[in-house]
Amino acid sequence: MNAHQIQLVRRSFALVESRTLQAGALFYDKLFERDPSVSMLFRTDMAAQSQRLFEMIGDAVALLDHPEQLDAVLAVLGARHVAYGVHEEHYDAVGGALLDTLAASLGEAFTPVVREAWADFYVRVSRVMRERAYQPA
Ligand code: HEM
Repeated sequence: MNAHQIQLVRRSFALVESRTLQAGALFYDKLFERDPSVSMLFRTDMAAQSQRLFEMIGDAVALLDHPEQLDAVLAVLGARHVAYGVHEEHYDAVGGALLDTLAASLGEAFTPVVREAWADFYVRVSRVMRERAYQPA
């Protein structure tokens, strides 16, 4: 991601940050629509879960200027996801659901360049989560 993309992601995230509960509910609807089988992996209250997801996205967005720190956080998060029963293939559905949610929440502010910046953000974040978690022994 370049500096301009980081700025686009930060600015647009600021617009959804105050509405994480709605965005979270939307996110899980979109996710379970894409892959109904993942719903059984979630055991926690969905409101609490969506809060945590968006907090983590916020932390990652804030840490984009500190890649080493970000990668350390993501590696640990990726490892925890293995324990939640998450498989590598699930990451595509989550990425798609995230973009769908941002599109619905941001409306016209979700321009093609903003979309591309978020797609790159998700590739960046999920790559580190997956890499460390599913690398061959
Ligand atoms: C960028 C990608 C993702 C981020 C930032 C993220 C973030 C989080 C966070 C912050 C938690 C709270 C617990 C913890 O910190 O360990 C969590 C839990 C969880 N996530 Fe993710 N996640 C991501 C991808 C995924 C994917 C691909 C799946 C697959 C469906 C998934 C399924 C789950 C499940 C099942 C839990 C546990 C829920 C429970 O306790 O009931 N996540 N995630």
